[in-house]
Amino acid sequence: MEKLVIRGGKRLEGTIPVSGAKNAALPLMCAPLLTEEPVTLENLPRLADINTLADLLNHMGVAITIAAGQGGRIRGRSLTFSAAEINDTVAPYDFVRKMRASIIVLGPLVARAGEAIVSLPGGCAIGNRPIDLHLKALAALGAEIDLEEGYVRASAPRGLTGGLIRFPFASVGATENALMAATLAKGTTTIENAAREPEIVDLAKCLNAMGAKITGAGHETITIEGVDRLHGCTHTVMPDRIEAGSYAVAALMTGGDVFLEGAVAHDMGAILDKLREAGAIVEEKADGVRVKAGAGGIKGFNIVTQPFPGFPTDMQAQFMALATVADGASIITEAIFENRFMHVPELCRLGADITVTGASATVRGVQKLKSAPVMATDLRASMGLALAGLVASGETTVNRLYHLDRGYERLEEKLRGVGADVDRVPG
Ligand code: UD1
Repeated sequence: MEKLVIRGGKRLEGTIPVSGAKNAALPLMCAPLLTEEPVTLENLPRLADINTLADLLNHMGVAITIAAGQGGRIRGRSLTFSAAEINDTVAPYDFVRKMRASIIVLGPLVARAGEAIVSLPGGCAIGNRPIDLHLKALAALGAEIDLEEGYVRASAPRGLTGGLIRFPFASVGATENALMAATLAKGTTTIENAAREPEIVDLAKCLNAMGAKITGAGHETITIEGVDRLHGCTHTVMPDRIEAGSYAVAALMTGGDVFLEGAVAHDMGAILDKLREAGAIVEEKADGVRVKAGAGGIKGFNIVTQPFPGFPTDMQAQFMALATVADGASIITEAIFENRFMHVPELCRLGADITVTGASATVRGVQKLKSAPVMATDLRASMGLALAGLVASGETTVNRLYHLDRGYERLEEKLRGVGADVDRVPG
């Protein structure tokens, strides 16, 4: 198992190119299941999660090829997905166990093939994470849902029918599943209390380019007028706002000055507001976002995680790392997932002063973190630890690097490019 070795104390300065968004790319890769025509996705990040989903799609009969004519204009990979025929409607446990987001094949599969059998994802390192909302959404479109031997079977042999899906609270994955399923349903579907994340807007854009009739993506109510068939298209995956936000935190923590090339400020409102509150100078430009440390040092701040446009749970661990070296105390409340504080004991091993009470953590800033071997069982928690390592004295080792590889493309290369002293070493 590889690990990341960080010798802290370097000021980060320069440009970091932002990759395509993992959380947009995963649902987008499921959209081609809805049509027999090829769909090309540009700017896909090179990440373990993308490969896992590609393997699952392959297993179902989707042919995946490197897109022709990629002339270096667009960073990242361009792949063409061709689901001319779907020859397996089962998503086996081995795939879903590796990556919970595999559940997003459910909606498009049942819409196109009339049936989907997907392994239940089970619990995960950041809380219980049920899939009841995904299932309720498909049931509202007329799918029959059965649970058997750890699998969920959704079937609609005569096709889905448009209907009203009213979510009790916003779920990103359930909204994506509902959106894709409804594109081929007969009649009109209304999704109320839909998630409003920019990744949903990106998915709707691609589906509309495939011939879907979706309005309202990015708002609480989305309307989908079902169509008989969808066709192929080419779509460019949006930039990763969480990757960009993570490096923005690195810039502020190290007293640095970093240009996040390709970052879209509009999608990062709550993140950039919090960075400014913590003492960063943020410049929003047409081609990216510049983040530099202000003269006044890092100030304490309070955070409550919320669905978009609120502060994202996927940035909670990174801002907690920032809070460990801020002046004064910060209170960070995790309101989306239970049990998403696994980085707390590890940050404490680096000398942080954190007390957790229920869903809130009180972080009292310390003068200096000191290196230690650390590890986390989750992607963003691992990034929080890596950020802490960038300012800790001595050599910090972040074990289980594969968690970071799930969501950060060429992490050590990008960090080294702005002056960090970081190495990937065998475990
Ligand atoms: C997505 C993101 C993940 C992010 C999360 C919240 C992807 C691949 N993953 O995950 O990185 O942290 O959004 O922004 O895009 N819930 C239910 N029942 C359901 C579904 C969800 O109770 O059927 C609950 C969850 O347990 C959680 C909340 O709803 O408490 C929000 O989760 P959701 O938005 O669905 O997260 P994901 O789509 O799994």
